[in-house]
Amino acid sequence: MADVKFPEGFLWGGAIAANQSEGAHLAGGKGLTTVDMIPYGENRMPIKLGLRNSVELDQTEYYPSHQAIDFYHRYKEDIAMLAEMGFKVFRMSIAWSRIFPNGDEETPNQAGIDFYRSIFEECKKYDIEPLVTLCHFDVPMHLVNEYGSWRNRKMISFFERYARTCFEAFDGLVKYWLTFNEINILLASPFSGAGLMFQEGENKDQIKYQAAHHELVASALVTKIAHEINPNNQVGCMLAGGNFYPYSCKPEDVFTAMQKDRENLFFIDVQSRGYYPSYAQKVFNDKNVVLDIHEEDHEILKHTVDFISFSYYASRCASADMNEGNTSEANVVKSIKNPHLPASDWGWVIDPQGLRITMNTLYDRYQKPLFLVENGLGAKDVIEANGEINDNYRIDYLREHVEAMKDAIGDGIPLMGYTPWGCIDLVAASTGEMSKRYGFIYVDRDDLGNGTLNRMRKKSFYWYKKVIASNGECLD
Ligand code: BG6
Repeated sequence: MADVKFPEGFLWGGAIAANQSEGAHLAGGKGLTTVDMIPYGENRMPIKLGLRNSVELDQTEYYPSHQAIDFYHRYKEDIAMLAEMGFKVFRMSIAWSRIFPNGDEETPNQAGIDFYRSIFEECKKYDIEPLVTLCHFDVPMHLVNEYGSWRNRKMISFFERYARTCFEAFDGLVKYWLTFNEINILLASPFSGAGLMFQEGENKDQIKYQAAHHELVASALVTKIAHEINPNNQVGCMLAGGNFYPYSCKPEDVFTAMQKDRENLFFIDVQSRGYYPSYAQKVFNDKNVVLDIHEEDHEILKHTVDFISFSYYASRCASADMNEGNTSEANVVKSIKNPHLPASDWGWVIDPQGLRITMNTLYDRYQKPLFLVENGLGAKDVIEANGEINDNYRIDYLREHVEAMKDAIGDGIPLMGYTPWGCIDLVAASTGEMSKRYGFIYVDRDDLGNGTLNRMRKKSFYWYKKVIASNGECLD
């Protein structure tokens, strides 16, 4: 095969999210969001997964999002370091509750707008294109407590007002937008994913899929608005990606893997094609789900996304007899352990070829440009006596995944860009740890919030700088 190259103008960069980096959780008039209620430690998972029917702050708990890595005060220093690596794009998110602290106000909070405007201007200074997620795991808590979050149809208009405010306020500074981060994660992690909590005896599937419907309508509606406000705006959906492999070639395993993939692709099917997939009705029947779909929703859903963005950390594996006992979780999605693949210290399998497979699946299915907006290895880093951080394991992981992207480009797939996750160390979404690090830039902070917050360049920083400078040619 002829030598495959990354396209000219390929968007190399990195990704973070407000809820895991900004800290300053009440500064500038910001309201509390879902993630601010999720502590570190044993109560984390029950809250995150929506197993509690109410949440309140508890003074005896440590909440990692409240300070995180203090990006709120240090963004200039941080963006300068990203620029030093040669970033062309910087994926970040806006905290909804900085713009609308409660979520249901008529007018936005100017301090929040000013904060993000200043970040985008800083990016512009270095010719870095922002890629902005409107909702990355943070729903204003007032909307959760007052309205039940996305189970309530009113959320569509609150989100519409928020999104319109952002599109107007940052017009000319931002053109790449994502609506909901990893929209499919709401099925596995309803509170962190969509602010959902449940009362005793409720049909959780009914609530989750109704919430999903509201998000899908909201996503399509704001896609339309983004295009109306500026036809140059490009809006993407965002899938927590990674194909399910059948555990064996038993037809039952193959069928189960297909169904598991559909659970996730269901969301993207709607966002990319503009209507519910044919298999959806059977899923709803099986789960006793009856959706409240308004007549106008069908029209709204026709406003589809411009590109398909996705995260890829690991592939997954399914068999017809998967159960609590033989599955584990990577990124809260249950999977059978694949005996052919190594895994990270957190049990997430390492499978670069799975990225090529996932990309082929997505492009075959949607025929829209792809954007890999999260990928990386969560690992513990060690600062050596001479002050160096030699994260060769991270370089190896990323190199293999860049090679897989190249292979996929060779397969004929248009890929817009690559933003590895946590380009600067930040709080892990699953565990709340700081010690699960992804970054090219080390942040001095531990799992309990101790540390100077100083930033240091890792070996991978210099490696990635060369990758970007050579447009993916130099991977040594
Ligand atoms: C994705 C999220 O699920 O995976 C990120 O969009 C998250 O917010 C990332 O941080 C990695 O997961 P974790 O749990 O290692 O932080």
